[in-house]
Amino acid sequence: MFFSSRLVEALKADHTKIRAEISLLKETDISQLDRQLCFGRFLPLLVSHTQREEKIVYKFMKEQDDENLNFMAYEGQTKHSIADQLIEDMLSDKINNKEWSASAKVLAELVEKHLDEEENEVFPYLKRHLDSDTDTELCIKYQTPYHDFDSYRYDDKEISSESPRWS
Ligand SMILES: [Fe+2]
Ligand SMILES: [Fe+2]
Repeated sequence: MFFSSRLVEALKADHTKIRAEISLLKETDISQLDRQLCFGRFLPLLVSHTQREEKIVYKFMKEQDDENLNFMAYEGQTKHSIADQLIEDMLSDKINNKEWSASAKVLAELVEKHLDEEENEVFPYLKRHLDSDTDTELCIKYQTPYHDFDSYRYDDKEISSESPRWS
């Protein structure tokens, strides 16, 4: 069934915001400071998106009687975990500038590939399992903030979200 999914449009809109920062984050020709500022903008966007995606979208995917869809949810969750590990390394005081720069590039490429896979493979497949009512219900849940990410501050490392996944 072909229909315009509000949920998928909301997910893609967040991907677009994340992509805008990815292109700078993986750019090694700009200054470290500019990339760190970019990371400060990128991180809350990514964490807000991946947490709500897991808790609303992947949860729904795991509950469906479709092994392929279940697998896609676990695969996405695993990619998020790998991104979390890189983020944890990048937030560590022990990392030097060269290591930080390499981690930033790997993180940007990993996330970019993951967003492409979701848009090209996962979301079209997910849409087959959505009817209009379910789509609306999931979209409303997805668009409800999971935590108050406005209070998130990277520059002084006071991460005030209730339970960041890498804590
Ligand atoms: Fe994802
Ligand atoms: Fe996503």
